[in-house]
Amino acid sequence: MDKPVPAPKSAVKSRSWAAQMIHPLSDEGQGNRASFVSRIFELETAPGTAWLHISAFGLYRCFINGKRVGNDVLTPGWTSYDVRLSYQSYDVSALLMPGHNRIEIWLADGWFRSQLMWGKDAIFNCWGDKVGAIAEIVTAEGSAPIVATDPSWKSGLLPILRSGIYFGEIYDARQEELEDSAGVEVLPFDDKVLIAHEAPEVRELAPFAASDSWTDTQGRKILDFGQNAAGYVHFTVQGEAGARVIVEHSEIVDTDRELANANYRTAEARIEYVLKGEGIEDYRPFFTFQGFRYTRVTIEGEAELKSIEFVPISSAYRRVSTFSCSNPLVNRLVENTVWSQRSNFIDVPTDCPQRDERLGWSGDAQVFAATACYLHESHDFWVKYVRDLIGDQRENGAIPHFSPDPTRMNDAGFPTAYGSTGWGDAICVIPWTLWLHYGDRAILEESIGAMEKWVDFVWSISNGPIVHPPRNFSRAGFSFGDWLQPKGPSVKPLPTIGDDAAATIYLYIASTLTAKAAEVTGDATLAARMRDRAQVVRQAFQHEFITPSGRLAYDDQTSYALAFLHDLIPAEKWEPAKAYFKAAIERCAGRIGTGFIGTPALLPALVKIGEPEWAGLMFLQEGVPGWLYQVKRGATTIWERWDAIQEDGTIFNPQMNSYNHYAYGAVCQWLFESVAGFRPDPEQPGFRHILFEPAIIPALGPVSASHVSAAGEIKAGWSLKGDRVTYTVSVPANATGTLILPPAYEEVTLDGAPVTGKQANGSITAELTAGDHVITFHIADLEEQKQEVAPLMEAQRSMNLPA
Ligand code: BGC
Repeated sequence: MDKPVPAPKSAVKSRSWAAQMIHPLSDEGQGNRASFVSRIFELETAPGTAWLHISAFGLYRCFINGKRVGNDVLTPGWTSYDVRLSYQSYDVSALLMPGHNRIEIWLADGWFRSQLMWGKDAIFNCWGDKVGAIAEIVTAEGSAPIVATDPSWKSGLLPILRSGIYFGEIYDARQEELEDSAGVEVLPFDDKVLIAHEAPEVRELAPFAASDSWTDTQGRKILDFGQNAAGYVHFTVQGEAGARVIVEHSEIVDTDRELANANYRTAEARIEYVLKGEGIEDYRPFFTFQGFRYTRVTIEGEAELKSIEFVPISSAYRRVSTFSCSNPLVNRLVENTVWSQRSNFIDVPTDCPQRDERLGWSGDAQVFAATACYLHESHDFWVKYVRDLIGDQRENGAIPHFSPDPTRMNDAGFPTAYGSTGWGDAICVIPWTLWLHYGDRAILEESIGAMEKWVDFVWSISNGPIVHPPRNFSRAGFSFGDWLQPKGPSVKPLPTIGDDAAATIYLYIASTLTAKAAEVTGDATLAARMRDRAQVVRQAFQHEFITPSGRLAYDDQTSYALAFLHDLIPAEKWEPAKAYFKAAIERCAGRIGTGFIGTPALLPALVKIGEPEWAGLMFLQEGVPGWLYQVKRGATTIWERWDAIQEDGTIFNPQMNSYNHYAYGAVCQWLFESVAGFRPDPEQPGFRHILFEPAIIPALGPVSASHVSAAGEIKAGWSLKGDRVTYTVSVPANATGTLILPPAYEEVTLDGAPVTGKQANGSITAELTAGDHVITFHIADLEEQKQEVAPLMEAQRSMNLPA
């Protein structure tokens, strides 16, 4: 746990540059040996203070007088480089000296020009085929630089023979003597795209050692690091010059304990180090990372590995929460989500860190946004991503499937790869999440135009409130729908939500959020237009997708979950719709029937309709599909698919099977907001006013959670004796809270005094001041609730799936 979150700082920082973007003439092009650019410069005296401002086309690492500048990795990070390019600023005062100084900038392909996207759709040289560096050292902002990249710089080749984000790296230590063999050319470049780095820098986290190792059938060493994560190996080795250490990676091993990484597809994810043969050599890759838990080490020639460790990297390192309950599988699920966030927060929120994708998928990001804020300090990271999305938004308002968006640069190959509902809605959901969690009005002001354009785009797909997304991936407005939704037992697949209903619900969500954001930013006209739009969509949805008897046209878990959660069920149909929702759950014997967009809504919707025992039943069942199934199978991060490894141990088709996808970890938001029971209030965001509304699920008790919010540390937890609950909360100084309990929670006391204040709907509320409070109550209908779910629990057992 860390210190309180700093106040939001959303302003874009830019500066004026004297330096030019220079390209090393030694460069051999994408996929070949890497180059550096360098310059010797004289100083009469060492300057008191000196700052290096630096960025690149490609990835860079800078050295001054042989010493590395900074310790962040994968700089300058990943943005849509043609419109936004981050620069970093370092205090380099201590590295400069009177007399001769040498600055050297190593460059590599990185996201700029190494492979992006999968197999047959792979894009190379996405933002250009020439790497470059722009850098200057100044003693004061606005003063003439001490040194700046310009045509006088030299260039030469590096010991990095090849490197790529998916590829990995080949390093030949015999080539470490650098030679200024060529000059540079100045590239056309508009420095207006340069922006101060916005997200937390990507850092190395604490390394860990292998927990197990063995030799495979061909005599190669396999190491199990015990934790799936993103990063790289760091090893020391001794041996003869020219000997090689080859490291391959995987997330899983097969039933024979052989490395199994077919799911990386075309990402080679391979490290090769060639020894120089001088004492103990030390290596970790410079310009790549892998997503893995296992490595296979092959040594060619005479060499011995002296040590090896896993160095995880991430932009998420300020953990701001704790959660624990009585079920160790749930506690591990939370840790798995933490690791999936770390692994997929590498300057960009990616789907996965291992295969030939690792893209900033917007759908995954929007469902996970709030969970991310609960787990790690995420404000600056999301602000950067929102700006990435805005930078990639198309003229017609469409938001891309992922951002930074390589397809925008390659329109011929992907003319319309954008505009999926549930994905593009990230432009509405994430700024609103930043408002809720951090009270950041500035990001709403920055995004409101893009939000409006997005809502109008979705409306334009079918020119009306019912959205009919085309089925074909290559048509604009195509929808991924409820991606990866399981269809129940394969002998008799169950119905799933249609793309039209899913897209229409999302049009409603996006219009509503845009209306709220417009209210906050003071644009009454837009707020009214969006509110009207939301009303029209709501009525059309009810007309089109809800029968007179209260059944949804798509009679599945996702449809009910989204419709209930977003208030699309009219009051008079609430009870019958609730019964149909439960029936949809019964048909799956209480197993999950939801995909990427339905899953985060499922448990909150069940709590909202007053059925916490049903939520508990679905959450805690250990069969597949279910959250705890993967934990029981030894997962250390969240899987992309519910059934990534089947019950009999067979691995699902590796073509689409990642073991480190944070999307389904979005259930952690529910653990904080419903189970521990605290959430931000949109009226006083940033947790200045906190809503405490716990849903008691006895099987989870005792529960305790904390969160270092923008307003300070919040704590909440409960324990149960019979049907009596003790709920303790802590409201940060300068914040206030409101306790909200449903009518079934009776005989409520707050700090020893009875609470009587009942709302019109029967719920009990009480105001909470800053400080600690003890609340007690009893659950009137606990037995009834338990009995209602008992037959389902029995059915789950009789499905004969592993418990
Ligand atoms: C990615 C996702 C993404 C999806 C879109 C996948 O290949 O890994 O997580 O959201 O495509 O449907």
